[in-house]
Amino acid sequence: MKNNDMQPIQNLSYLVYFQNSLEHLATFLLNKQYSQVFVLTDTNTTEYCLPTLREHIPENIRYDLIEIDAGEENKNIDFCIGIWKTLLDFGADRKALLINLGGGVVTDMGAFAASTYKRGIDFIQIPTTLLAQVDASVGGKTGIDLDTVKNIIGTFAQPQAVYIDTNFLTTLDTRQIRSGFAEIIKHGLIFDASYFQKVQKINWEAVPEELIYRSIQIKNEVVTQDPTEQGLRKILNFGHTIGHAIESYFLDKRDLMLLHGEAVALGMISEAYLSNKLTGLSIADLETIVSYISSIYPIQAVPQEAYTELVTYMKNDKKNNLTQISCSLLRTIGVCGYDSFVSEEDIIESLNFLITVKNR
Ligand SMILES: NC(=O)c1ccc[n+]([C@@H]2O[C@H](COP(=O)([O-])OP(=O)(O)OC[C@H]3O[C@@H](n4cnc5c(N)ncnc54)[C@H](O)[C@@H]3O)[C@@H](O)[C@H]2O)c1
Ligand SMILES: [Zn+2]
Repeated sequence: MKNNDMQPIQNLSYLVYFQNSLEHLATFLLNKQYSQVFVLTDTNTTEYCLPTLREHIPENIRYDLIEIDAGEENKNIDFCIGIWKTLLDFGADRKALLINLGGGVVTDMGAFAASTYKRGIDFIQIPTTLLAQVDASVGGKTGIDLDTVKNIIGTFAQPQAVYIDTNFLTTLDTRQIRSGFAEIIKHGLIFDASYFQKVQKINWEAVPEELIYRSIQIKNEVVTQDPTEQGLRKILNFGHTIGHAIESYFLDKRDLMLLHGEAVALGMISEAYLSNKLTGLSIADLETIVSYISSIYPIQAVPQEAYTELVTYMKNDKKNNLTQISCSLLRTIGVCGYDSFVSEEDIIESLNFLITVKNR
């Protein structure tokens, strides 16, 4: 793909800018008459990303900075109250704008705070991690965690625009890149077999721009067809039913703690196993997926004595109910279904499969 093919991607009500995106932001700010502009960062994006953003905010536009501490543990109501209070203290009215500059924590919580402050003010997403660029910042899901339950409080709310600048990724550590890369792999597996072929050929430590662009296109295509997750959008949950449970289980295990994408990679292995058992994924496809994912991600299996705990996490997941566990499973590489009910026995088998992959 030539760079000039990377036109803005159209969502239902907004554009995702990819090329010269911060110049587009400058034009947007000059064209709009916001009463006040706020920039939300976390401690890392203040250091690594704000200087670049500053260069692109037109001189005559004043803005105030709101900074939160970095980390998922701060994506909670206390920090959210902090954002609301700061907006109020600065006298923000309904014509104010909030620019969220950061990873998924900043874009999710900033969007939630903006969508609820005075019944909703405009906001802009500038995702600065690979995960936030290819996933979190597109699709209109906003939210915060409540205790250990992730994203349980939130809204659907659309930004004015999303501005992607891949230069931000240069200061991200490798582990964070690998975490975001899991969602890129997922996009190929659920939606586009030829894209998955391309993904397999590149070096994940230096993800080419056209892959990031294609991943956003795929996510965007899915969410515009089903903005509120009545059906199709559920395919984006491939790897996540088991992945989230694994992520939650290791959360308080110090050195074993996994980043979201690392857990999703393991979840994709287990759910590919289930796809082979339940929804017709061929053995050859299963093997391709397993050997590719395990060539990138360390396989951290869940000890058998923790299986009951994992099943409980899955039943409490907001996608499921207390009696049935539902997964989005592959039919083949590039085609995914949703609403497959999976028995506890099958879940356990798929976790055992992870152990066999680890022991290979
Ligand atoms: N809304 C959605 O549809 C959606 C989808 C997927 C994930 N999410 C959410 O996204 C969050 C995870 O996102 P994340 O992985 O971006 O986490 P994150 O926001 O915590 O960022 C990861 C780390 O990278 C730092 N960072 C951010 N940009 C940087 C940069 N350019 N250089 C150096 N460091 C930088 C952050 O400060 C943080 O320490 C989760 O809360 C998840 O629930 C939301
Ligand atoms: Zn995910």
